[in-house]
Amino acid sequence: MSNESHKKPNIVLVGMMGSGKTSVGTAISSKHGMIFVDTDTVIEERSGMLISHIFELHGEAYFRELEAQAAKVVAGCKNAVIATGGGIILNAENMAILRKIGFVVYLQLEPLQLYNRLKTDNSRPLLANLDDSDKCETIQQIFEHRAPLYEKYSDFAINNSVIPISTVARMIFDEYENSNN
Ligand code: S3P
Repeated sequence: MSNESHKKPNIVLVGMMGSGKTSVGTAISSKHGMIFVDTDTVIEERSGMLISHIFELHGEAYFRELEAQAAKVVAGCKNAVIATGGGIILNAENMAILRKIGFVVYLQLEPLQLYNRLKTDNSRPLLANLDDSDKCETIQQIFEHRAPLYEKYSDFAINNSVIPISTVARMIFDEYENSNN
C-alpha cells in the first residue's frame, strides 16, 4: 500500500464487486454532507445504457473505454465520495487520475465472503449466468489478479466484512481527515 497521502478533495472507494462501496460510500457522504458519485452511474448516464447492456452489445473492452472516460469526468468532483467499478484499477491511467483527486480507500473482503454476497446477484456481467461453482472460481480468479492492484493504489485499506457500516464509514472518514493534516 502506498504511504503517499496528502490533502485531497475527495474520497475514492475501490474494491471488488460486492465489497460494499455503495453502502459505505453513501454512509460517509450522507453523514458528512459530501456528494456521492458512482463511476458506473456516470457511465450509464453518459451512454444512456445499462452496464449489463454495454457488456452484452459492445463487450468488456468498450466498457473499459467508457470507464476510463468516467474516471476523467469524476476528476472534476470536489467534496465527493466516489465509488468506483471493481475493475477501474486495471487501468493505471485511471488510478493516476483518481489518486490525484482523492484519498483512495480499498474495501477488503475475502473471496468466499464476496461469493456469499454475490451468489444470488445476476446484475454483474462478469458473473452472470454462471453456476455456483463457476461463480465461486471466477470471483477467486478476479480477486487474485486484482488484490495486489487494490493494495498498490490505495492510501488506506479496511476490512468491510464484520464491522457495522457506520463504523467502517467513520474509520474511513477519520483516516481521510488525518491525511489532510
Ligand atoms: C466490474 C464491476 C462493476 C461494474 C462492471 C465491471 C468489474 O461494478 O463496473 O460490472 O470489473 O469488477 P461494481 O464493482 O460496483 O459491482
